[in-house]
Amino acid sequence: MEVITVGNNKGGVGKTMQCYQLICHLANKGNKVLAIDLDSQANLSSTLGVQIQRTLIPEWLIGDVPFQDLVISSEGEGDFHGNIDIIASSRHLANLSKLLILSESEIRKNAGRKERLLKKRIQEVGDSYDFVVIDTPPILGDELIMSLVASNKILIPTQAQDYSIDGLEELMDTFEIIKETENPKLEFAIIPSMVNGRRNIEKQRMSELAQSFHCTPGIRNLVQMQESISLKKPVFMLGKNNQGKQDYDALWEALNL
Ligand SMILES: Nc1ncnc2c1ncn2[C@@H]1O[C@H](COP(=O)(O)OP(=O)(O)OP(=O)(O)O)[C@@H](O)[C@H]1O
Ligand SMILES: [Mg+2]
Repeated sequence: MEVITVGNNKGGVGKTMQCYQLICHLANKGNKVLAIDLDSQANLSSTLGVQIQRTLIPEWLIGDVPFQDLVISSEGEGDFHGNIDIIASSRHLANLSKLLILSESEIRKNAGRKERLLKKRIQEVGDSYDFVVIDTPPILGDELIMSLVASNKILIPTQAQDYSIDGLEELMDTFEIIKETENPKLEFAIIPSMVNGRRNIEKQRMSELAQSFHCTPGIRNLVQMQESISLKKPVFMLGKNNQGKQDYDALWEALNL
């Protein structure tokens, strides 16, 4: 089982888009996929056809509620949805950090540290899934840290704007600490997101970024990508050789996914 987090503490860079396309791609190849939505905005949940009143993710993490009580099948057009289960989010998840503080002594007893909670719960699920894919909120908080401890790999969608690339340093520092302390096998991939290749300033920023980090092939800024989310159809369903599909096919090939 491979666990993949999509994360960036910068907001609106295309994390949920990447998660959605990845989950559908993996499921369409015949893999059993568990999607975990750790963002209280619940965008991934709704794109996968699931809306819930109140998520039980905090109770699951703390150990008060079993996995079976949370997991739901995704819904939408296309047989591949049969391969996708989701642990859905709701606004209530915004209280996660507070709830974890209130349950501190319970957590210490059953996981040692709160950072390890998600890893422990995913391990309990065993090998029922080929992939677990986690969407995270745009902050360097408990959700992202727990996900990094639990994952084999973090995919980091990154836009060419200055502030987006500067924010990356903070994330990479956290990545290094977690790799050194909790998860030595953790890998990362930087994925240029919403690329507008006609803007020279973007090209320049991206080539500077590529000097510090290895970057994968990028995903262009395309109207089609927004259509994919509003129609709740992954890019591979939007016509045979559309540009969005071309970009994602190249990305999945580069990442061996
Ligand atoms: N390649 C793309 N081309 C055009 N629009 C895109 C592309 N990727 C994402 N978008 C759009 O940009 C917006 C932000 O994308 P998305 O929600 O995936 O970002 P996010 O990083 O998950 O945001 P947040 O930090 O709020 O969770 C959405 O409206 C999405 O449809
Ligand atoms: Mg998002």
